[in-house]
Amino acid sequence: MKTGWWRNAVVYQVYPRSFMDSNGDGIGDLPGLLQRLDYLQWLGVTVIWLCPMFRSPNDDNGYDISDYQDIHPEFGTMADLDRLLEELHRRGMRLVLDLVLNHTSDEHPWFIESRSSRDNPRRNWYVWRDGRNGGPPNNWESIFKGSAWAWDEATGQYYLHLFTRRQPDLNWENPEVRTAMAAMVRWWLDKGVDGFRIDAVTHMKKAPGFPDAPNPQGLEFAPAYGCHMCVPGVLDFVDELARTSFARYDVMTVGEANGVSAAQAVEWVGEDRGRLDMILQFEHWHLWSNQPRVALDVRALKTILTRWQLALAESGWNALYLENHDLPRVLSRWGDTVRYRYESATALAAMYFLMRGTPFIYQGQELGMANTVFTSLDDFRDRFAYNRIERMRAAGMDDADILAEMSLTARDNSRTPMPWNNGPNAGFTTGIPWLAVNPEYPAINVATEREEPRSVLNFYRALIALRTTEPVLAHGRYRLVAKRHPQVYAYLRESEEGRFLVVCNLTAEPATFSHRAFPWQRVKLRLGNYPTPRDEGEWGVLRAFEARVVEVG
Ligand code: NOJ
Ligand code: CA
Repeated sequence: MKTGWWRNAVVYQVYPRSFMDSNGDGIGDLPGLLQRLDYLQWLGVTVIWLCPMFRSPNDDNGYDISDYQDIHPEFGTMADLDRLLEELHRRGMRLVLDLVLNHTSDEHPWFIESRSSRDNPRRNWYVWRDGRNGGPPNNWESIFKGSAWAWDEATGQYYLHLFTRRQPDLNWENPEVRTAMAAMVRWWLDKGVDGFRIDAVTHMKKAPGFPDAPNPQGLEFAPAYGCHMCVPGVLDFVDELARTSFARYDVMTVGEANGVSAAQAVEWVGEDRGRLDMILQFEHWHLWSNQPRVALDVRALKTILTRWQLALAESGWNALYLENHDLPRVLSRWGDTVRYRYESATALAAMYFLMRGTPFIYQGQELGMANTVFTSLDDFRDRFAYNRIERMRAAGMDDADILAEMSLTARDNSRTPMPWNNGPNAGFTTGIPWLAVNPEYPAINVATEREEPRSVLNFYRALIALRTTEPVLAHGRYRLVAKRHPQVYAYLRESEEGRFLVVCNLTAEPATFSHRAFPWQRVKLRLGNYPTPRDEGEWGVLRAFEARVVEVG
């Protein structure tokens, strides 16, 4: 029976490589995560989404899996995973795994067989094609740059890889692949995991006939629409997988849904469709992550997020997020890390967290972490970064410009080790961390922020407590107010259980704001990032990045 428990959840995303190292090899691991469960419980989150911890040669930090039913030795053992599950459940918390279905590692036994000869029974488990005019079969670009096709010398054909060349795409048209995947998913469900985040789910179907793409290079992460993203029929794969695996269990599913528009969202998460519970949409972060340094367009943000709120108001449910391991830190773009660090981090937090949906926090976001500092091109660890650096060099850019560009956009910005305290290596490891710690760690770390009442961490904790104790903040209707205000994002949450107004000034300039129906004298401030205003005048002006969560009765 489906209870929909995940609607009341607060999800915390753990990037295991960077969370906590227990044995001094510089790499985070499952025993390290186990040591920090008390912290996560104290914070108040209820679900851990664990990025891939499966066996993997680590070409894309675990998103290249060579055995779906084993643990990467750097991270620990299956016994550690079992213990994690047990310890979370004992605390009333849950575990969601990252399911990478679109591709495997090139070291997965299926691919090793598939590439061994053209008539191997597993040949058709992947996508093999003859070349065209001495080159690849079509013009598709990999999302990680370069042709999406890799030449295999031994069998004289190309295989498709939408991500790195060591991540060959599975052929989901093949029923044997679908059956094997469903069996693997059931195996984890029977072990007791509480759900999945499904990687690259919109890419599983490729356009029949593999036609050339009109926009082969596309936008980063929005490539070749209609060729290998949101191709009609992709939902049939999701349907079948749901029917044969997770729909039979009371678990949560959230799909990584590049390319899905708000208008299409109900097809993916509408309750009567029985497919996924939520999707992680990509629309709002296109406002920042790929753009040159521009100020946040508050109105555009309101338009996008409100569109998603309304699209799923009747049927379906939103996943609310600002950050993840694929994005640089939001604070470095939309916040003010110099003058208003606390204020801007907390205003951004209140803005997205109290909308209708399940909020997600990416590790370190709750500390108000910003981008790290890269001093040389050798500082990067991400394969995608290497590919981009190579291309920029080939295009004649000099290293200083490449470094400036990568410092702004690289995924490694958010993958730095979790800063636990102000000791050596931020308390993450006793060894040499696989990726350098963010140099801000002496001030921005868990231990320091826990002690400081006015810290980003304690604000997140209060936000989580509020979201968890006020049902209207989980389930109430969403209504945007002051739609045209250029600085302020304000919205109401309403139900029989109460009514809240969330008001966030997302700029460094003061902003006037009043609401006719809810004069400030009659509201109750439940959470804010400034001292409570003392009089009518103060109530009427929001200070730089001021956020107020008020109960309006
Ligand atoms: C999306 C994941 O979030 C990202 O980290 C990964 O590189 C790609 N999918 C490929 O699996
Ligand atoms: Ca380790």
